[in-house]
Amino acid sequence: MIRTFVRRAGRTTTGQAKAFEALGPQFIVPYQAAVADPVTLFGRKAPVVLEIGFGMGDATALIAGVLPDINFLCCEVHEPGVGALLKRIGENDLTNIRIVAHDAVEVLDHMVAPASLAGIHVFFPDPWHKKRHHKRRLIQAQLVRRLAEHLEPGGYLHCATDWEPYAHQTLSVLQAEPLLANTATLSADGFAPRPPYRPVTKFERRGLRLGHGVWDVVFRRV
Ligand SMILES: C[S@@+](CC[C@H](N)C(=O)[O-])C[C@H]1O[C@@H](n2cnc3c(N)ncnc32)[C@H](O)[C@@H]1O
Repeated sequence: MIRTFVRRAGRTTTGQAKAFEALGPQFIVPYQAAVADPVTLFGRKAPVVLEIGFGMGDATALIAGVLPDINFLCCEVHEPGVGALLKRIGENDLTNIRIVAHDAVEVLDHMVAPASLAGIHVFFPDPWHKKRHHKRRLIQAQLVRRLAEHLEPGGYLHCATDWEPYAHQTLSVLQAEPLLANTATLSADGFAPRPPYRPVTKFERRGLRLGHGVWDVVFRRV
């Protein structure tokens, strides 16, 4: 199977290691090859948003803070990132996040019931610049079909990228998926305005200062 990531080496800081120890048991959900009941996972019934590849979790923690009524099921394979998000969970007293430190594609295929998600966040997925690596990109027809199938009717798929060719690929793949409809009906080019819940991260602010663009694409399951 072609994976959308390569495991990077990275040092876990002391703070992250402490967070692993203190908060891991409560907030890390072990991967399992069977559908997991979200009410059991989160200890309450609420709409579930899946996040694929949260990196260091900066945006994730901010979003979970402004949307306390949503349960966020967040996947990341980079261990220091998992530690960093746990640390933020502790600092901000967040209760509405669960982390699966595993390939999100397998989590989607096995742990999440079809038509069960209120939303999916894919923020700044690895752009895989080289042509021979394009097959590793997350946003391609086959996976987008499976993402769409796991959304409940009206559920949304929100992608953001700062790599223009990937932004166009994202838009055209989503447009070609019959289960999805673009929410950006008033926009001339099909890209959406940044929804207010998605914060501008430090990394993104730096890019914007350097004159780089950022493109949001938001579609809904029909
Ligand atoms: C470029 S980073 C962006 C991180 C974050 N969303 C942000 O906006 O800063 C992409 C992240 O996606 C993760 N990733 C890629 N494919 C994944 C997968 N299939 N499952 C879980 N995480 C994945 C990578 O490990 C990496 O940390």
